[in-house]
Amino acid sequence: MATGAFADRGADLELVGIQKRFPGFTAIEHLNLVIPAGSFFALLGPSGCGKTTTLRLVAGLEDPTGGRILIGGQDVTGQKAYQRPVNTVFQSYALFPHMTVLENVAFGLRRRKIADAVAKAHEALRLVELDHLAARKPVQLSGGQQQRVALARAIVNRPALLLLDEPLGALDLKLRRQMQLELKTIQEEVGLTFLHVTHDQEEAMTMADTIAVMNKGRIEQMGTPELLYELPRTAFVANFLGQSNLFTGAVVGETSTSIAVDVAGRSIVVPKARSHRHAGDVTVGVRPEKITLHRQKPEPDPAHNVIGPGRVTDVSFTGVSTQYLVTVPGVGTIIVFEQNRSFGPVEGEGDEVWMTWNVEHGFGLDDDPAGPDPKFVADTTTKSIAAQRRAALVTELEEA
Ligand SMILES: Nc1ncnc2c1ncn2[C@@H]1O[C@H](COP(=O)(O)OP(=O)(O)OP(=O)(O)O)[C@@H](O)[C@H]1O
Ligand SMILES: [Mg+2]
Repeated sequence: MATGAFADRGADLELVGIQKRFPGFTAIEHLNLVIPAGSFFALLGPSGCGKTTTLRLVAGLEDPTGGRILIGGQDVTGQKAYQRPVNTVFQSYALFPHMTVLENVAFGLRRRKIADAVAKAHEALRLVELDHLAARKPVQLSGGQQQRVALARAIVNRPALLLLDEPLGALDLKLRRQMQLELKTIQEEVGLTFLHVTHDQEEAMTMADTIAVMNKGRIEQMGTPELLYELPRTAFVANFLGQSNLFTGAVVGETSTSIAVDVAGRSIVVPKARSHRHAGDVTVGVRPEKITLHRQKPEPDPAHNVIGPGRVTDVSFTGVSTQYLVTVPGVGTIIVFEQNRSFGPVEGEGDEVWMTWNVEHGFGLDDDPAGPDPKFVADTTTKSIAAQRRAALVTELEEA
């Protein structure tokens, strides 16, 4: 596509064996990715995993050390940034302070001598619901409004591919949620391809058709938000996207449809169809909200896994749900989320409880627990965002 052409639809993006080495550091390691035209794709991963580098490579602001980039089937690897049918909204949205909102949005069109620049700029502003502020200067806008202007400035060019690098980073939670929905609506309305970079798992899940979870310059898993959440392939994904209870043990039994894993003398059953490994040492897991707490030892039932007894060591009331930490000797600490159907927590610290979950709700990871390089290392760069937030909150409260 030639410079300045308006796309009437999104283009697909394909990264083939992309590698990026900086002097002394490999930021991207053999990245393969196909983003279908017209989709909302999120690249999700912790700080430093290579998200911005990937966007800069696609935008042409950085040259790959190896591999090819194709947009709409055309190899753009050798093209300069301005030749690519791509626009980027950076986290620092940098509007021109001396220009009005309208002039900011029309700027690129005017420079390329597009005929009805002003009318097109108004149209883009209407899309982000800011046309009524067209005459204002950026300094007279709130942070969220400025971000919307930056977005209008990018979509007015109708790039076949729009790159968004944490574009909502500066917004407070409520505005962020509102903008997420707006962005999604805009993407559906204009039908362009959006590549959205974020380290916020909730944001990725709310907005994207497809999420790629990135870790240390590689894609760990790619799929719909539901797939990644319900069937994580690695411990990294299981813990980065929400929280998980993971148990490692040897496979000690199997049927045609399930495996039984020995976890500290207890047997945990997982459907074969939901487990990547069926023999040897394996790691299996279950999400906290799939677990039910019981005061009495439950009757054995082949449809459910049982763990217990354990002691409740922590109760956090979060409004819609209560988060329990239950310590089970030999097994460790298990996280349980229970919806607050009545008022407040139903168990207290120190209570003895059993936990059950439907066998169908478990999953088995692809990680080799005894492998030479277990991918999940519980350090600050791979902890789930929610856990980090909680830790930060606890520190804040303790200091106060
Ligand atoms: N010019 C450079 N020279 C050397 N290393 C670099 C350079 N640019 C980036 N890196 C390194 O490459 C890695 C990936 O950086 P990148 O900016 O892509 O991370 P990111 O996933 O966008 O992180 P964040 O969420 O913090 O924005 C980091 O470890 C970074 O330090
Ligand atoms: Mg970044």
